[in-house]
Amino acid sequence: MVGISTARKLAKQVYLSIIHNKIEQERKKLYDGKFNLLPNWWNLAVNESQHMEVQGCDVSDLTAAYGTPLYVIDKQRLVANYNNFYNSFHKHYPKIIIGYSYKTNPLPSILSVLHDTGAYAEVISEFELWMALKLGVPANKIIFNGPSKTQQSLALAVTNQIMMINIDGFAEIDTIDSLAKKNRHTQQVGVRVVTSVGWSSQFGLGIKNGSALEAFKRLKTKQHIKPCGLHLHLGTGLKNIDTYLQAIKEVLDFSKQLSEQLNIKIQYFDFGGGFGVPTVRPFTETDTRLAANQLPIATFDPSQTPSLDDYSKKIINLFTQYYSGDTEHLPTIIFEPGRAITSSAQLLLVSVLAIKDGDNNTKTVIVDGGKNITMPLAYEYHEIFAATKMEQSNNAEFYNIYGPLCHPSDIIFLLKKLPELEVNDILAVMDAGAYFVPNQMNFSNPRPAAVIVDNGQHKLIRKRENYADIVALDIWN
Ligand SMILES: Cc1ncc(COP(=O)(O)O)c(C=O)c1O
Repeated sequence: MVGISTARKLAKQVYLSIIHNKIEQERKKLYDGKFNLLPNWWNLAVNESQHMEVQGCDVSDLTAAYGTPLYVIDKQRLVANYNNFYNSFHKHYPKIIIGYSYKTNPLPSILSVLHDTGAYAEVISEFELWMALKLGVPANKIIFNGPSKTQQSLALAVTNQIMMINIDGFAEIDTIDSLAKKNRHTQQVGVRVVTSVGWSSQFGLGIKNGSALEAFKRLKTKQHIKPCGLHLHLGTGLKNIDTYLQAIKEVLDFSKQLSEQLNIKIQYFDFGGGFGVPTVRPFTETDTRLAANQLPIATFDPSQTPSLDDYSKKIINLFTQYYSGDTEHLPTIIFEPGRAITSSAQLLLVSVLAIKDGDNNTKTVIVDGGKNITMPLAYEYHEIFAATKMEQSNNAEFYNIYGPLCHPSDIIFLLKKLPELEVNDILAVMDAGAYFVPNQMNFSNPRPAAVIVDNGQHKLIRKRENYADIVALDIWN
């Protein structure tokens, strides 16, 4: 007789092998048996040494000059991402503003490039507001959002007469009004609303429950506030146009109600960020199950992600059903993308420190950057390349890749198929330009340096933290 536990084990094995086969089939169908997304999704060049090149710079030259872990920012891609976003919408509608979401990647040099290219600043804290002002962004190109505005942050915003404060709760109203009175000006204000789709939790004021309307009624009574904006933000990594269309329709209907009931004319429609990028996919339930069962997570087809053109046609078409007419009186549409602009323009280089045999024909690799600098890898699929072995090798093996944090959860990638690795090889974590930098910490290690590359030239834009930096604020005795 077969024991219950043996039967369970057998059933589990059969189950795992069925899933494994299914993934293999899908992968074969999509990628002809390949395990990685192809480098041409990022227009990556590979030189004759089979090294990855970014903007004409061999990654091994960069790591020799600056060490690892190292962020590499592709300036041309950064600018192209911004221009592509702006133009996709601007070609269908004349009044478009793009406010880059500072929280997504607050490296000052990146922000400067984006401002030089035309971006406004979207900030959510006093620190970010300070940074925008410090970078020389004109106050009338700064939008202040978020549910956690302090009195001090509002004072900084109002004193500088920034373009727009999107309030997130009632308490902000009196504060803004009295600050504006003190400064003898009228502050433009919008309201972040909650629609039937997208994030709600701690954010915004509901349209359906009447809170948003109540906020506008109160704003209208204030002498030093001009209520003129509607703001929404639905999430991040979204890939569904209908979610945007639904939310935007509700906001446009609400703007009609504001006009009819309160005679408030909305001049700024801020539809937030959240646009997913083709080469990153939030983990699905299946991915999480596969990882828990130690099975490789399936790659996916990036071309399934809607393009910005797909978004713009549909969004602007909906918008112009409500607003059309002479250009002068049209409202302005604002977007606050973060990920869509910087994600694919930055990668993270880490070095292989050690390799050992693991279970079930796998190898264990330790690299010098883990969850301390790659937080999004806990909830999203990001591609990884062996940047010093870009050839399609016949000796590919399954690797479990871990960081340096001495904890089993310090996982970079489980069961990644890569060419045979050696110590000192460089791995590149792709799409490291969104939510990597702001989420990093120094768990036993300094935070990485960052370098921007353009036309074969490279320039350090953030120094590697040194040990003295880590303890600079500590009082030793
Ligand atoms: C208010 C607001 N705007 C813009 C963004 C940027 O989002 P994404 O990077 O997904 O475009 C965020 C991110 O959470 C946000 O909270």
